[in-house]
Amino acid sequence: MTRARLAPRPTSCFRDDVLAGLSTPRKRLPSKYFYDAAGSRLFDRITELPEYYPTRVELSILRAHAAAMAARCGPRCLLVEFGAGSATKARLVLDRLDRPAGYVPVDVSGEHLRAAASALADDYDGLRVEPVVADFTTRFDVPDLPASRRVVYFPGSTIGNFDPPDADSLLRRVARLVGPGGGLLLGVDLRKDPAVLERAYDDEAGVTAAFNRNLLVRANRELGADFDVAAFRHRAFYDREYSRIEMHLASLVAQRVRIGPDAFDFRAGETIHTENSYKYDVAELALRAERSGLRLDEAWTDDLNYFAVLYLTAA
Ligand code: SAH
Ligand code: AVI
Repeated sequence: MTRARLAPRPTSCFRDDVLAGLSTPRKRLPSKYFYDAAGSRLFDRITELPEYYPTRVELSILRAHAAAMAARCGPRCLLVEFGAGSATKARLVLDRLDRPAGYVPVDVSGEHLRAAASALADDYDGLRVEPVVADFTTRFDVPDLPASRRVVYFPGSTIGNFDPPDADSLLRRVARLVGPGGGLLLGVDLRKDPAVLERAYDDEAGVTAAFNRNLLVRANRELGADFDVAAFRHRAFYDREYSRIEMHLASLVAQRVRIGPDAFDFRAGETIHTENSYKYDVAELALRAERSGLRLDEAWTDDLNYFAVLYLTAA
């Protein structure tokens, strides 16, 4: 059984963040709270939707180029994955790595992480698998396994869920964590036809809508809130100015929501902004990374230029 390490501080202050986010004139909630056990399962269903191309395309890039990516990582590297989820993609990299020193999946979704790490450890005999339940935007300890180099694996374009200044801080954090000569293997979703993007975030089967509404289900369960979940509609649209998909939950009616002693009023049509998913181009991201102390060495993409995987080295 793989035991997960816990971050020194609680990984979240869900109540504080919900109360603060609903108290601002433009209500918003941080997207990291999508991922309780149910949210992680819903995300896994999203990755299988016909409209959600990012997972399929990133996997195709990995299948085509995993050997070259592993060569960049080098022998005896310690692979630290940010936002590992079900750790499906890491397997393609691990299959090609030369005598990896260990695999450290990091995620806020503890139960899901433990199950994924345990399944992976069963399949990779002899590999040190050390899951860490932590928010990777905060300080956490990486198990001190002897390795020739640390490489952070950050797939799925989760970097796109951070506003650019926060993405920059995260890149700086990665550069510090791996140290000079360490690496970052980064998956990033690229700009494309907005119709393709909007379909990917508003699927026919309504799985993304359920994923979005799960935030309210979670608040009801964990905080004793009284959200009428059916009275909020999922909305996703592309904002060209910011090159990002925005997800919102729109109140269908004027209503009051209570969380313990606090009450929040919604106008009909008023939204809670629940997620941004920024889309980049490779040159722009490389420039941002460079400013954060990470130099682009190689980029792999697909025929349609929908998605890219980058290998960067810390200065
Ligand atoms: N890497 C997987 C999963 C992506 S979903 C893939 O590419 O398919 C995003 C993952 O990041 C979820 O598992 C979520 O729980 C995790 N996550 C989101 N924000 C996080 C944070 N601040 N700290 C740690 N994990 C986070
Ligand atoms: C995890 N992250 C990169 C996903 C994305 O595409 O922004 C989360 C997601 N939101 C809706 N669908 C998927």
